Amino acid sequence: MTDVPTTVPQPAVARPDAPEAAPAQPAAAQPAVRRRYAVAGTGHRAQMYVDAVLGDHADVAELVAWCEPNPARADWYDARVGASLPRYAPADLERMVAEQRVDTVVVTSPDHTHADVVARVLDAGADVVVEKPLTIDANGCRRITDAIARTGRDVVMTFNYRYSPRNTALREVIASGVIGEVTSVHFEWALDTVHGADYFRRWHREKVHSGGLLVHKSSHHFDLVNWWLSDVPVRVYASGALRFYGDKNAEVRGLGERPARGTGNAGDPFALDLTKDARLQALYLDAEHHDGYVRDQDVFAPGVTIQDNMAVLVDYRRGATLTYSLNAHSPWEGYRVTVNGTAGRAELEVVERGAVVLDAEGNAVLDPSATPGGPAADPVRPEGERLLVQRHWERATEHPIPVGEGSHGGGDAILLSDVFRGPSPDPLGRPAGFLDGVRAVSVGIAANQSMLTGQPVRVADLGLGADLTAP
Ligand SMILES: NC(=O)c1ccc[n+]([C@@H]2O[C@H](COP(=O)([O-])OP(=O)(O)OC[C@H]3O[C@@H](n4cnc5c(N)ncnc54)[C@H](O)[C@@H]3O)[C@@H](O)[C@H]2O)c1
Repeated sequence: MTDVPTTVPQPAVARPDAPEAAPAQPAAAQPAVRRRYAVAGTGHRAQMYVDAVLGDHADVAELVAWCEPNPARADWYDARVGASLPRYAPADLERMVAEQRVDTVVVTSPDHTHADVVARVLDAGADVVVEKPLTIDANGCRRITDAIARTGRDVVMTFNYRYSPRNTALREVIASGVIGEVTSVHFEWALDTVHGADYFRRWHREKVHSGGLLVHKSSHHFDLVNWWLSDVPVRVYASGALRFYGDKNAEVRGLGERPARGTGNAGDPFALDLTKDARLQALYLDAEHHDGYVRDQDVFAPGVTIQDNMAVLVDYRRGATLTYSLNAHSPWEGYRVTVNGTAGRAELEVVERGAVVLDAEGNAVLDPSATPGGPAADPVRPEGERLLVQRHWERATEHPIPVGEGSHGGGDAILLSDVFRGPSPDPLGRPAGFLDGVRAVSVGIAANQSMLTGQPVRVADLGLGADLTAP
């Protein structure tokens, strides 16, 4: 990867593809001392944090540096900020923390880099806000756990799914005791051929980079179950395989020769054309010559080492059992959770996209809600959510799910406020720390081992370096 030299702050040079800058906070609202943030990994995900610092939290936070190996992606974020921030190569992380007097590094680099980046930032004397998954394997967990023990510094995990009002509502139902003590959970997550396919186009498709979907994606879901139940996983059995994406499956299904990448291939519902989206083009296509990172690889190209169909059984410490499944090539996207308790049952059903529709050329429509009469209005599988609660000897009732303003039903705004202003008092315990991150990835790490050996795996035997039962 290209080394990126440090630069002194200077006004950004206007570029034709410069993104619209996020709205800045009025100067009067800014106190003298703001917390100094750097971002490690200025790809897709970094934008949520960058915009939050530039917008709602500009009075308490400021951006002072990028750690990013690709100069084109750092340029895109400079344009968004409206200034050229000092930028550092990953090898110079410690120098960035020292020279820029960084208080906190937001880690939005690929999953396999998290353990290295987090541990080095802590050792360099700054705190961390890290995207899920905390890391991808047991070594990574140990490395982070040791660094926290050594430095006593803070690691905040951003589990945004907890903040989604429907997931919060289910936590409220369980915590209220209305369904009694939880005895088992059944959780099915369906990723469709738009969202699910996207994990087979870039670094996620290789287990060494993402830990596979049971780590990369399901750490969200396992965190939800851990949090809903206030319990910890103790034993995991898993089975899974690559049965849809990848070159072997394409061959078996007779798909024939396919272009190596999506860009320029109209009429293929599995192709992602980076030129159709200015942001994707700037962040990835125009950045490719620096590091060879191809964002739009064919989902049926060779090299996929992750599974696309997975089933997991998890035993929890207090006795509940989780049955979980993840499918990454479903025709619709959403999830179903059933929670059985000694006094009744709760059922959460969510349809996020009722169907993947194709345009006149045969391309998948990325935002079907923009299609008149599209799947959002489907009478059979309308987009929506429903939380039912039914106690023994009673009829089912619908539990209200509050509707908030903004992305993810207002959940993202609360998460970002907790991150940048410190957690507000929350009886639901939504703010998450590194131990929640270890608990969440412990299931996927154990599942990966179980899929290799065919045996159940005890979480305590993984050597994660942390006591998951600690409060
Ligand atoms: N919570 C969510 O819903 C959610 C959504 C998307 C992504 N994420 C997480 O955010 C992270 C980033 O995902 P993304 O889609 O933005 O990926 P991305 O590939 O678009 O961006 C990652 C960036 O990190 C840079 N990078 C690579 N190695 C680095 C290193 N050692 N140090 C610093 N930077 C490095 C890359 O050049 C790239 O610019 C992942 O961990 C992912 O799981 C979370």
